[in-house]
Amino acid sequence: MTVPEDSDSFTLVPVASGAMSLRSVLHGETFHPVVGPMAEARGLHVAQSRIVERAEESGRLIVWDVGLGAAANAVAVLEALAGSTARVELHSFDHSLAPLDFAVRNADALGYLVPWRAAAAQLVEMGRVDAGNVAWFFHPGDFRVEAAPPPPHAIMYDPYSPAANPGMWTLEHFAQLRAQLCEPCTLTSYSRSTAVRVTLALAGFHIGRGKATGEKDETTVAATHRELLAEPLGSEWLGRVRRSTRSAPLREGGPAGPISEADFARLSAGML
Ligand SMILES: C[S@@+](CC[C@H](N)C(=O)[O-])C[C@H]1O[C@@H](n2cnc3c(N)ncnc32)[C@H](O)[C@@H]1O
Repeated sequence: MTVPEDSDSFTLVPVASGAMSLRSVLHGETFHPVVGPMAEARGLHVAQSRIVERAEESGRLIVWDVGLGAAANAVAVLEALAGSTARVELHSFDHSLAPLDFAVRNADALGYLVPWRAAAAQLVEMGRVDAGNVAWFFHPGDFRVEAAPPPPHAIMYDPYSPAANPGMWTLEHFAQLRAQLCEPCTLTSYSRSTAVRVTLALAGFHIGRGKATGEKDETTVAATHRELLAEPLGSEWLGRVRRSTRSAPLREGGPAGPISEADFARLSAGML
């Protein structure tokens, strides 16, 4: 298993809302900046992918938590489903347990992990824990090669940014991920970058505008089916892609810059 960070790579930092969060010294990024871990986890991921409503409608839902990190997104799912009778599987992926280990040791300062400390410890030790009606699984290793549990209905996509974690944002990777999705599925992300949205669209996702969080005035909700999106992007966004100087999809080793004619034609054909 790749261990890119150890527990010494993190510090505790207060964010603007007053909540405490983790900062990766190695990547120079704060987890859930500005609004703090739980506000972002609940608003950006759980609410926008309608996890509770969809679980109750169908009686069964599978959620992928990509980048378990310090488990704020996972805890938001456990919390939201605490009173539900739906059967939910939560599959968390990470190639490092260092952030969770750091968060468990600092659970009192972070707050949100306190009620779930025993569950998190069992998850790490056994790879699985039953937390109320949620069966929570941990999959160690590189998500790009290890992801093989049952196909999801919702993906909370939360690696580091494209600048710090480029391999998790490429067209090659998203196309492979999209090919595994055989059930109607949403993918929520803090990114609102045109290049990321273009990359997801060329990989076969429909793209929607997500609500503001922290310093971001928008986020992104992608989906296998357009009907899953509250605010699908359309021709106005295509115009913005055309004018942008940084709209090229994120290909492995590919140059940044404006989108090519060929990619723009494929993008337009897929969206119209
Ligand atoms: C910003 S943190 C996630 C924060 C987390 N979702 C939370 O709620 O606390 C990003 C995480 O993605 C993980 N990660 C990055 N690249 C990965 C990869 N290729 N496979 C698996 N995990 C990866 C990192 O180890 C890190 O824990």
